Amino acid sequence: MPTDGFARSPVTRRRFLGAGVAATCVALPRWSQAQGRAADAPEGVRVLRAKPGTAPLRGADHSPTPVWGYDGTVPGPVLRVKRGQELHVRLINELPEETTLHWHGVRLPNAMDGVPHLTQAPVAAGGSFDYRFKVPDAGTFWYHPHQYASEQLDRGLSGMLIVEEPEPVAADRDVVLVLDDWRLKPDGANDEASFRSFHDAAHAGRIGTHFTVNGAPAIQITAKQNERLRLRVVNAANARVMPLRFERVRVTVMAIDGQPAEPFEPREGRVTLGPGNRVDLFVDCTLEPGASAPIMLQDARAEVSLGRVVCEAGAPVRTAPLSDPKPLPPNPLPARIDFRNAHRLDVPLDGGAMSQMMADAMRAGREIPGHGIDPRARLWTMAGQASSGHHGPPLFSVKRGRTVMPAFANKTAWPHGMHLHGHHFRLLDNLDDGWKPFWLDTVLMGPRETARIAFVADNPGKWMIHCHMLEHHDTGMGAWFEVT
Ligand code: C2O
Ligand code: CU
Repeated sequence: MPTDGFARSPVTRRRFLGAGVAATCVALPRWSQAQGRAADAPEGVRVLRAKPGTAPLRGADHSPTPVWGYDGTVPGPVLRVKRGQELHVRLINELPEETTLHWHGVRLPNAMDGVPHLTQAPVAAGGSFDYRFKVPDAGTFWYHPHQYASEQLDRGLSGMLIVEEPEPVAADRDVVLVLDDWRLKPDGANDEASFRSFHDAAHAGRIGTHFTVNGAPAIQITAKQNERLRLRVVNAANARVMPLRFERVRVTVMAIDGQPAEPFEPREGRVTLGPGNRVDLFVDCTLEPGASAPIMLQDARAEVSLGRVVCEAGAPVRTAPLSDPKPLPPNPLPARIDFRNAHRLDVPLDGGAMSQMMADAMRAGREIPGHGIDPRARLWTMAGQASSGHHGPPLFSVKRGRTVMPAFANKTAWPHGMHLHGHHFRLLDNLDDGWKPFWLDTVLMGPRETARIAFVADNPGKWMIHCHMLEHHDTGMGAWFEVT
């Protein structure tokens, strides 16, 4: 793995500087054992420390927010590796509780998937774990904890993993956008009291009111006229669906959830990301020098600005914008999906506020005690079961190579984003006679919507399947499946 690669992105560099200044004055427990091991890390091993720090979520004019972050920063450092190469990350847990590292969207060996109790034991406070695997697909991925995930992500633990294509891509440069929302108190601290809110879990999840791009209130992307940027966007929020809108620049969707798509220009510049979704966009700076174009996010009532693209006053980078982009080079995904011998199953999603289940729970006066799922905190079900995922029998078990076609039927009044580990899938058209021209690892569904998907179960092991609205996952909307 190229060790110089981690500093290549301007975003990364800024974050490193920020962290150096900010991550002080936090009393840490004793980590001597973990630090000793990190110091011994062989060459080519990227040490990643999950630890407390602070982040200027409200901008430089306000006091920073205490966070948990990878290397103490929010977001964590951008990790870069080339397709086919090995990524070797040593996670050092400097948090006061257990954690794990999950590589969202990466089709990796099961033992490296970072799911506590299913693929590994949780990494204890002061402990460490080596994640080591070859990355099969080029694209935009991200990493985050899978232990106590709703709380740990909302404290700031997540980062982007960029897997570079083997050949150069026709964009002038990469810009990373890690989007998040926060629920902050007036003094800027995270509103920790609401981490285990029964109300949030039963509704949309823990929606924040303060938006950040790369851990800051807004982003300003300076571009030369006719420059082509590759925006790598991830929705790192626990629960918020993010409808984005780009104005006055030419936007082309190039990849979704890390996998190349048939390029298309989204209608009215609108792109919607559910929690966990990524999108790679080519953005052509078609503005006049000195002009700028906002990047908007639709909030419940109004549109808010996440920042803007600013066209530099100097000479254009070329005399005219680039022409329509060719698709990104393909990844080694299954060439065909055999519907005839598929394992088909219905996966109704039920529960939440305005459901019978919720009414029963309210009558019993239940609340969500402690961390994560608890037998008393069952608000949601998948295929009739309320689970955080690893308890009980698998949702299904198939032989390697079999096609699986789940039909998720959202019976609830809330959106959900179903995420499959270890595999990418196709979103089917209504009659199962075709699929959308892209792959997904997380499918967003509106209230009462059904999503039918198909994938080849070609990765052996025990894999999670769960709602990426993390409070829903905590309170029942999770399961696992087995590929033997
Ligand atoms: Cu992004 Cu199971 O997670
Ligand atoms: Cu959900």
